[in-house]
Amino acid sequence: MLNVIENLKLTHKFALILMASTFAFNGNADEKQLAQLSEGFNAEQKYMASCFACHSTGAAGAPKVGAGMSAEWEPRLEKGLDAVVQNAINGVNTMPAKGLCFDCSDEDLRAIVEYMVDTSS
Ligand code: HEC
Repeated sequence: MLNVIENLKLTHKFALILMASTFAFNGNADEKQLAQLSEGFNAEQKYMASCFACHSTGAAGAPKVGAGMSAEWEPRLEKGLDAVVQNAINGVNTMPAKGLCFDCSDEDLRAIVEYMVDTSS
């Protein structure tokens, strides 16, 4: 009888530990999602600060951003948005790595590229 009670206690403890670790795991997942974009990140502001100089004028052959500029982006998007974002992160030809936004995370850069493509549609 004593053994059964001990076993029940143990099972209970185990269930609690399981629950606790599930919560801990979920907590980490949430944190990870929040960490994807930098704190206070704003795609338009970052675009204006880091990318506008080249991408508004098309300097050095940069694809232009702005209303009616979708033709600048369509051929580039043919390889898929992920590849276009990778080029923004790593740089391509005269496009500098990270578009010179050195405090931008990869997710920030993806959000800026999406902003650029969206505003050019
Ligand atoms: C010094 C000028 C310059 C700055 C600053 C700049 N770019 Fe560019 N960017 C270019 C040029 C030039 C190209 C065209 C490269 C090519 O395809 O030869 C380009 C291309 C791109 C492309 C298209 C990549 C592809 O796969 O075709 C993306 C996306 C891009 N830039 C994003 C950004 C972002 C985001 C920023 C700011 C964080 C930025 N750029 C800042 C010059 C610049």
